[in-house]
Amino acid sequence: MYLCLEGIDGSGKSTQLAMLGEWLEKCGLEVLRVYEPTESPPGQLIREMLTDPRATTPHFQRILGLLFAADRMMLMDRIGEAEKQEKIVISDRSFYSSLAYQSDPDWILEINRHIKKPDLVILLDVDVEQAINRFEGKDHFENPEFLGKVRKNYLKLAQNHNFSVVNANHSVRKVHEDIKTILSSRIRI
Ligand code: TYD
Repeated sequence: MYLCLEGIDGSGKSTQLAMLGEWLEKCGLEVLRVYEPTESPPGQLIREMLTDPRATTPHFQRILGLLFAADRMMLMDRIGEAEKQEKIVISDRSFYSSLAYQSDPDWILEINRHIKKPDLVILLDVDVEQAINRFEGKDHFENPEFLGKVRKNYLKLAQNHNFSVVNANHSVRKVHEDIKTILSSRIRI
C-alpha cells in the first residue's frame, strides 16, 4: 500500500509522518518512509530553485513541474520494490503536490502519466496563518498569497480525488489520532 500525506507548507506533514511510521511499526508492519522532493540530483536542483525569487512565476513553475516529475519517476522504483515486499509505503507528498502547487493541471497530468498514484491520500488541512507561524519562510513558495491559492487547490483536489481530510489546526496528538482512525478503517491492523 502506498499512502501519502499532503498539505501546504507548515501543515505538519513531517511530524505526522514520523508518528505514523512509528505507530505502524508498533502494529507489526514493515514501513518504507519517503518524501518529495527526494535527495536525487533533480531533487537537489529543485531545492535550490525554490529559493529563487522567480520561483512562483509561470516559467519557473513549468521548469519545476518537469523536475518534480523526474525526481518522482526515480522514486517510483523504490516504491515498487517496497510494495513487492509487502511493505507499507508512507510518503511526505506525491504527484498531487504538483497538481496543487504548479499551474497547468492538464500538462502536469501528462508529464506524470507514468507515475503510480497513491492508494490513499490524507490531506492535512490548515489555515494559512497558522501554517506560516510554523516555518521559517526561506523558500519563495512560503508566502501567504501563494499558499492560500495552493490550499484552495488542495481542497478542490480532495473533493475530486476522494482524499481523506484532517483538520490540522488541532494539536499534534489529535491530528495523529485522526490519521490513525482513517487508517484503521482502510488497513487491517
Ligand atoms: P517540502 O515538503 O516543504 O520540503 P521541505 O520540508 O524539505 O522544505 O517541499 C518543498 C516545496 O516543494 C514545498 O513548498 C512544496 C513544493 N512542491 C511542489 O511545488 N510540487 C511538487 O510536486 C512537490 C513534491 C513539492
